[in-house]
Amino acid sequence: MSKQYHITTFGCQMNEHDSEKLAGMLENMGYLEGDSIDTADVILLNTCSVRENADLRFFGNLGRLKHLKKENPDLLIGVCGCMMQQPHIVETIKKKYPFVDMVFGTHNLHDFPEMITESLCNREMNIHVWNEHGEIVENLPVKRKYNTKAFINIMYGCNNFCTYCIVPYTRGRERSRKPDDILNEIRELAENGTKEVMLLGQNVNSYGKTLEKKVDFADLLYEINKIRNLERIRFMTSHPKDLSDKLIEVIRDCKKICDHIHLPVQSGSTRVLKLMNRQYTKEHYIELIEKLRKARKGIAISTDIIVGFPGETEEDFHETMDLIRKVQYDSAFTFLYSPRKGTPAEKYEDLIDSQTKHKWFDLLVKELNAISYKKNLSYEGKIMDVLVEGKSKTDNTKFSGRTSTNKLVNFSGDALEGDKVSVKITKAKTFSLEGEII
Ligand code: SAH
Ligand code: SF4
Ligand code: F3S
Repeated sequence: MSKQYHITTFGCQMNEHDSEKLAGMLENMGYLEGDSIDTADVILLNTCSVRENADLRFFGNLGRLKHLKKENPDLLIGVCGCMMQQPHIVETIKKKYPFVDMVFGTHNLHDFPEMITESLCNREMNIHVWNEHGEIVENLPVKRKYNTKAFINIMYGCNNFCTYCIVPYTRGRERSRKPDDILNEIRELAENGTKEVMLLGQNVNSYGKTLEKKVDFADLLYEINKIRNLERIRFMTSHPKDLSDKLIEVIRDCKKICDHIHLPVQSGSTRVLKLMNRQYTKEHYIELIEKLRKARKGIAISTDIIVGFPGETEEDFHETMDLIRKVQYDSAFTFLYSPRKGTPAEKYEDLIDSQTKHKWFDLLVKELNAISYKKNLSYEGKIMDVLVEGKSKTDNTKFSGRTSTNKLVNFSGDALEGDKVSVKITKAKTFSLEGEII
């Protein structure tokens, strides 16, 4: 019987895609994806460090693996991803979790097959964490989770150093893949049935800056838009400071680009944005939203917001409330600020008590949800194109898929994964729509 693997992934799409590559490498070595962690021969935890509770969840999960290792000493346990790029985390693993076999970081994912071989031979904790990235490694095998839609890295790392954020430390400096490598990957996928691509980067709007060839994100989108059989293009994340007029024109002109943009604002207060090193003002952000809505009527807009950044005052919070009322987001991810070791904001003075932060958080979420619901209500009675992703997770007599505006639709009727179907929207909810195929 083939040996089995199990991967648990924390964090963002970047990590999800890295796990698809780890799965690809394991399958090339003859392992198969197992149904249960209890019977796996290789267990990997791919970690995220963006907020403290991500760290805590990881340690909780890791602690629970100790008994599996006791029952089966041949089991290989690997931990990888963003947390491993931080020396204090690796120290903790060495001290408190000696049953771990492999520790590796984000810069040397491609070494994973060698690490497996090494661990099968020596049975001690093998730690391979590069401090810096090397050359971009192309053509790693990928076992993709979905058939219809695919994640594509267009760049790695981040140079923005927002003062709260750990990512520039865990993912290293910004570097872009060559356009031809990206285009060839997407062409091949499209020929094999992929309908939608999600282009990934911490700041896709600065794509190309590290390449010899003069090419930017707008140029890349223009080329991807020409790929035959590909129907939809999504991307994340866009940084407002680099959202150029040229890019807005490409969004206007390229029909395959979806009617949705995720444009994290983080705060509505220009003063806080400055403390965060975001490099734009509230006014500039609102102007961008107006330009986008002019270029693409009906474009859906989503965002990320941090509540309780050190130094944020009641007045700053009201600026954020004012911004969300002005922008009218389709959806938003809200986070309570979490201090991250080694980032500048960790040292900033914080005068606001946790109760106040929680109160602000609740007020913000309530308002955002009311806006989302209102936006979704405007879909009732409309007929939308939905790309079918499979059976609905909430009701297996139904299917689910997404509109170009990224609304999740659960609908009745017969459909096949990958089909684009017309769905009449019968009911709006805060986070999804219901409908029936017509
Ligand atoms: N590169 C992306 C986002 C990466 S992290 C961008 O620039 O938008 C995803 C989100 O996590 C961020 O947008 C931010 O809202 C949130 N986040 C990052 N660090 C955080 C911290 N220390 N505390 C709370 N939220 C944080
Ligand atoms: Fe973090 Fe800012 Fe880079 Fe996004 S742009 S990954 S928030 S430093
Ligand atoms: Fe987390 Fe790393 Fe992504 S810190 S959010 S997994 S880049």
